[in-house]
Amino acid sequence: MSEEKINNILARVQSFPTMPGAGAKMLLLLKEPDTAVAEIEEILRYDPGLTANVLKLANSAYFGIPSKIGSLKQAVILLGLKNLTQLVVASCVSAIMDKSVPGYNLSPGDLWRHSVAVSIAAEALVKDHKRVDVEDVFTAGLLHDVGKLVLGYFVNEELEAIQSIAAKGVPFVVAENMILGTDHAEIGAHILAHWNLPADIINAVRWHHDPDSPDACTTQMDVVYLANVLCQASDTSGQAAGHAVELSPTVIDRLRIRLDQFENISEKVAYWVDELSNVLAFN
Ligand SMILES: [Fe+2]
Ligand SMILES: [Fe+2]
Repeated sequence: MSEEKINNILARVQSFPTMPGAGAKMLLLLKEPDTAVAEIEEILRYDPGLTANVLKLANSAYFGIPSKIGSLKQAVILLGLKNLTQLVVASCVSAIMDKSVPGYNLSPGDLWRHSVAVSIAAEALVKDHKRVDVEDVFTAGLLHDVGKLVLGYFVNEELEAIQSIAAKGVPFVVAENMILGTDHAEIGAHILAHWNLPADIINAVRWHHDPDSPDACTTQMDVVYLANVLCQASDTSGQAAGHAVELSPTVIDRLRIRLDQFENISEKVAYWVDELSNVLAFN
């Protein structure tokens, strides 16, 4: 693998669109313990379209808030700052992620829909197992494949070589790494570091195909890994289609989860994915 190629790929990461301003500022606020609603209003006031979209999202049946949320203040009280931040980030990245992706056979909307599906599955895993200590899985799920947006171009250039390795039963992501010297999980982590996202989210994205790596061990990563496998198994688009995906026994063990609980999660994903991928899309 030539160093020049890796440098080319990393240069693309540097020129990749930055996280739009409001999302980045909201993420910074999370690090401060006493954020006031006024600070959030200050961030969003310059972007009425985004505010309207966040309120539309907050009122989505997915969040199950019975009363109508009419203001950011109510949204913070009823959803909490963390959830609200996840919604702002989701709205901010939807325009970037709603595109077709060469190399991975993804039409416009495919990557977005898959990402939303993984977010729903990840949240369902956390809720069903009452692991309230695991944070930000929605955002990590949403961004887990963001690296494909940069790497797809390079995958496309070497598609024949990658596919001929994958045809021998090697996972596509491993074939990607063998030919390009990196893969979309690693590039995704570079993008998120470039966006200044929290380390836990970067870690979950970095290892979402390699949960047995000694560097990978966080519950958040386990959840995103498992959510992705569950969604890949039912995906009909992209390079995962038709490929059987083996589950890591280590992750199943660490999460103490039973295989018969997966059906419930797949049902939740199927139920919510259309509503959420539409309502989260903000262009
Ligand atoms: Fe992936
Ligand atoms: Fe994925």
